[in-house]
Amino acid sequence: MSKILITYQIPEAGEEKLRGAGHDVTVHEGSALIEPAALAAALKEYDGILTLLTEKLGADELAEAGDQLKVIANYSVGYDNIDVPAATAKGITVTNTPGVLNDAVAEHAIALLVSLARRVVEADQFTRDGKYEGWRPQLLMGTSLTGKTLGIVGLGRIGSEVAKRAKNGFGMKIAYNDLKPNTDFEAETEATYYENLDDMLPEMDAISVHVPLLDATHHLINADRLATMKESALLVNTSRGPVIDEDALVMALQNDVIRGAALDVFEDEPKLKPGLAELPNVIITPHIASGTIETRSAMAELAADNIIAVLAGEKPPTPVTK
Ligand code: GLV
Repeated sequence: MSKILITYQIPEAGEEKLRGAGHDVTVHEGSALIEPAALAAALKEYDGILTLLTEKLGADELAEAGDQLKVIANYSVGYDNIDVPAATAKGITVTNTPGVLNDAVAEHAIALLVSLARRVVEADQFTRDGKYEGWRPQLLMGTSLTGKTLGIVGLGRIGSEVAKRAKNGFGMKIAYNDLKPNTDFEAETEATYYENLDDMLPEMDAISVHVPLLDATHHLINADRLATMKESALLVNTSRGPVIDEDALVMALQNDVIRGAALDVFEDEPKLKPGLAELPNVIITPHIASGTIETRSAMAELAADNIIAVLAGEKPPTPVTK
């Protein structure tokens, strides 16, 4: 029996699996996130830790981990909060939860895109505010998505699901930028590959961002790139906040450089950059793209499966550690 810490209450399925496998499971209590000092202490005490994407485990923290710690299972697909080489150097396997959240995140990206194009949030507020005085020919006009081009920045599992939904559900044309082309995807979606992001951005009616946060993707969408986009362009981000220079985005939106943005992630989460929330052409949701009952449960089970496998000396289903 190994000692496992779950650093925050997650759907029960995960905890049940771990207990079912005979482990001694502790769940960090309460609505507050675990304190860094308590997490540091846990690194010396537990054999496996199930972490949240908000918990930073850098080289300094991991250097202090005890020899007993064998696995850190991050409860997310992104793992930019963990220094994986530092964990590997300590013999700790890091895992994440890819795959099970593709559909949910893609659905949310599409929800944001449609809401932005059709001004759903603005219109809802307008109606609630008692401003609706009857049908008018040009009231709160949005833009159509049908026939427009959506540019996917980062054609991974999630980006390709967004593209398929945009094409099959809304009749959008698809373009994508990634390190290399994907011919199967192109055959399925008739998508156009852009090797260079700078060539793609000026051509797009909408952009959906799906790259992981790396040094190379930090502020990938910056003031210079925003300036090359169409004035009518819509920007959606369900990846990681720092991929977009949020100050530059606020300025671009204030100056009508692009038409609108919908963000599920922020540069200094949970804080928003000054001015962002005041903009009518912005939709903001609190990092809930994978937040469906089905998906968050599946993520809990996958994280538990990863822990169980590593502690049994087996290869985990979704390791990040090579
Ligand atoms: C959520 O942002 C995730 O990375 O799973």
